[in-house]
Amino acid sequence: MRCGPGLLSVIWLIVFSGFWCFSSVVAIGAHTLCKRFLGLTRKQQQMCARNPEVMFAVGGGAQVAIKECQEQFKNQRWNCSETPGKKAFGYVFPIGSREAAFAYGIWSAGVTHTITQECSKGKIPNCSCDTTKKGGSESQGWRWGGCSANVDFGVNFAKKFVDAREVEGDARSLMNLHNNRAGRKAVETNVITTCKCHGVSGSCTLRTCWQTLPPFREIGNYLKFRFEEARHVKPVRAKNRKKLALKIKSVNHLKKKKLKPSDLVYLSDSPNYCDYNPELGIHGTVGRQCNKTSNGADGCRILCCGRGYNTVVSVVKRQCECKFHWCCSVTCKVCTERVEEHYCK
Ligand SMILES: *[C@@H]1O[C@H](CO)[C@@H](O)[C@H](O)[C@H]1NC(C)=O
Ligand SMILES: *[C@@H]1O[C@H](CO)[C@@H](O)[C@H](O)[C@H]1NC(C)=O
Ligand SMILES: *[C@@H]1O[C@H](CO)[C@@H](O)[C@H](O)[C@H]1NC(C)=O
Repeated sequence: MRCGPGLLSVIWLIVFSGFWCFSSVVAIGAHTLCKRFLGLTRKQQQMCARNPEVMFAVGGGAQVAIKECQEQFKNQRWNCSETPGKKAFGYVFPIGSREAAFAYGIWSAGVTHTITQECSKGKIPNCSCDTTKKGGSESQGWRWGGCSANVDFGVNFAKKFVDAREVEGDARSLMNLHNNRAGRKAVETNVITTCKCHGVSGSCTLRTCWQTLPPFREIGNYLKFRFEEARHVKPVRAKNRKKLALKIKSVNHLKKKKLKPSDLVYLSDSPNYCDYNPELGIHGTVGRQCNKTSNGADGCRILCCGRGYNTVVSVVKRQCECKFHWCCSVTCKVCTERVEEHYCK
């Protein structure tokens, strides 16, 4: 049996290939359930057994992340789509490219965000509002109040769970770990502080403030920006262990000299994503709709990789010039419109 949208089962994780059956198997117990998630590492299985509620959030987070990734990349050659016939995460991104960096980052951010959100809703045992947000500064007229989103909980769980897959200790797993962390950072960085005024007739002599999560779209936008600025890294030896360092030290951008935790990092240049290549998990752009007049990534010239495009003309009928008659009817004419659509060859 195959459950839920194929999207999830294919694109990133076999981890979740059983996930959408969750509700139907919830009765069979956490232990058996957790065994059903193909591709879970031992540590992930243990975390799952201890905390099955969080697994809902992990799956939800993956779904949110995929949706956002597809939105952010809908006009690009690589559109964050599932790859036919590929099941495992590692296979979908055999190249340590920028796109892989984004995918890991946004997945990690999605899990962090969703777990934090579910925690705020009281749906996760052992998790409550962020109790470190108390006190404040009366002299500056504000104090913490209400229920602040427990981002630390989300970050810690996501760190343990998402990072648990990276056991190889090679350059690629260092890259993945760095991008996982950048994803969690993206959530932390975008937390919003909201305040409410108190005091005589709204004089605002005292404000109470609390922290909330932004909509995931904002985190998607932020990570897309980090994607544009992604840093090319290489593994280096530091004492007895490997770590990542910038491949090319930029000399003229002083502040960019160092690798930051919030950076997305990649090891290899991206392929051009033009041609179908199941080995590399690449769809190719044949059949993609393009924009004839755009010079951007969605323009036929770039999207179709110079292969040209086919034009499909159709006539669309729709209601137009509608008039309202007193009282109460509307009459419309039927207009026909010629619509041209272009598809990559
Ligand atoms: C919740 O916390 C208690 C005490 O720290 C612990 O024994 C229990 O296993 C935790 N439950 C979950 C679901 O993590
Ligand atoms: C991405 O592009 C492929 C073809 O290259 C297409 O089959 C798929 O539907 C697209 N995905 C999305 C989410 O637009
Ligand atoms: C195509 O690109 C042009 C120029 O960027 C833009 O004005 C237009 O809205 C685009 N059309 C569609 C259907 O996206």
